[in-house]
This record gives sequence, structure tokens and C-alpha cells, in this order.
Amino acid sequence: MFTSSTREIPENRDVPRHVAIIMDGNGRWAKQRLLPRVAGHRRGVEAVRAVVRAAVDRGIGYLTLFAFSSENWRRPADEVSILMDLFLRALEVEVAKLHDNGIRLKVVGDTSRFDERIRGLIASGEALTATNSRLTLTIAANYGGRWDIAQAARMHYRRHPEALADGAPLDPDALVPHLALAYAPEPDLFIRTGGEKRVSNFLLWQLAYTELWFTDRLWPDFDAAALDEAIASYRTRERRYGRTSEQVAAPATSP
Ligand code: IPE
Ligand code: IPE
Ligand code: MG
Repeated sequence: MFTSSTREIPENRDVPRHVAIIMDGNGRWAKQRLLPRVAGHRRGVEAVRAVVRAAVDRGIGYLTLFAFSSENWRRPADEVSILMDLFLRALEVEVAKLHDNGIRLKVVGDTSRFDERIRGLIASGEALTATNSRLTLTIAANYGGRWDIAQAARMHYRRHPEALADGAPLDPDALVPHLALAYAPEPDLFIRTGGEKRVSNFLLWQLAYTELWFTDRLWPDFDAAALDEAIASYRTRERRYGRTSEQVAAPATSP
């Protein structure tokens, strides 16, 4: 189990242990080229390949990518179906390659809404790669931060029915083991491409003390150099977790 950043101050590292990315801007990338949006989504998949490779090279342990939000169902039906199709093909083609490269695949989100083939490929891909340890690649699909917190609360009370009745305050950390990303440390670095400065219902809980980095670059144009730029910015940040700068510079020897 990893430390909750609001309970214990995590150790600081030069290379972020966990990077979480909102891959935004595929549609605009296509529009700029007078191409259909699907062309942007296709190029987006290529950018994913490049960034996964770069993450492995840089020794990042966990990479979490927002592929489809719980609100993306609001898009036109034909775009949703294209995105589902791309997801399906990516799972078909990429899982074996991930496995060959020692990458563990995880998918978080309410996958019950996906069709059977996608659910089958997720289950077999996760099972095949379960013991790999080079990088944990998490794809957030039909994921919503609010859904995550709600399902964690539900799981907690299911396991501890007595806690509902006794009226005692809920310890926020009680939810941690039930969050979708319980197997990963909290993200050190959050990246959003495409210029928007918002979280769009991504990892609401887990981003409590994550360093945020925004770029106007559109996702299909994101590459290893852009990742390095984000990491360079991350390295300049002073992670205080509520403390003063002086405390960070000279940490107390006793707790
Ligand atoms: C991100 O790109 C991909 C998904 C949300 C699935 P967009 O499709 O949101 O691209 P823009 O924001 O319209 O440019
Ligand atoms: C966030 O992008 C979701 C994903 C990248 C999967 P959106 O394009 O859906 O976000 P909004 O609508 O601009 O907030
Ligand atoms: Mg978008």
C-alpha cells in the first residue's frame, strides 16, 4: 500500500514515480488539417505509443492516461463508436507488445458499459501482463473522478456495514484501498495537453498534492521531448504538502 499524501508526506523524487495525463486536443489537431476528427484520434494512439516508450526509458513507474471520460458519452454517437472501435483495435494490437516490454496493463473506470469484446480484451490483457513490473500503464476508460470516490465509499461500507450505523466520522483514508488506482502511488505529475486548464472529472481524489502542468500542444503532437519539458518543470517545484518552505529545507528529525 502506498502512502496517502494527506496522512504522510511522500518522499520526493527527481523522476516522477507516477505521471497522469489528460490527452486532449485530438479533434482540434484534425480540424487544423481539415481532416475528420477520427484522424486526430488515430494520431493520438500513435502519441500514446511514443509516450509509453519514453516513460519506460525515463524510469517512470506508473503512467495513467485518460482515454474516455464518463462524460464523453455525450459526444455524437458516431464519434463514440469510432472511439470504441479504436480502443478495441488498440487492445487487440498492443497488448502483446506491452507484455513483451514488461509493461503491466490496467484499465480503470466503469467498464460494464463497454461491449463484451472490449471487456474480454481488458480482462485477458490485464491477466496476461499482471506480473510485469517495468511500467504500470493505466488506461482510464469510462472513468470519472466522482464515480471513483462514490464506488470507493460503497466498497468501504459494504466491507464495514457497522461503520454506517455507528455514526462515527468517515476517515478519508478509509476509502484509499478502494479507489480505482489503489495499486499505484498518487500521481506526482499531472499533464494536460490541448490548452484547457481544467481537470474534467479525472483523478479528483488522487490529484490532491499532484504537481500540475498544462501545455497548449495538442495530444497528437505530444512526444518524448514534451514529456521531458513537463518533468523539467516538475523538478523545479517545491512540494510543501502544507508545510512552510523552511520546513521543507530543514526537515525535522523527529516526527
Ligand atoms: C481527446 O481529444 C480525446 C478524447 C476526449 C477521447 P478531443 O477529442 O477532446 O479533442 P478536442 O478537445 O476536441 O480537440
Ligand atoms: C477530457 O477531455 C477527457 C479525455 C481526454 C478522455 P475532454 O475533451 O472530454 O474535456 P472537456 O470536455 O474539454 O472538459
Ligand atoms: Mg477535448
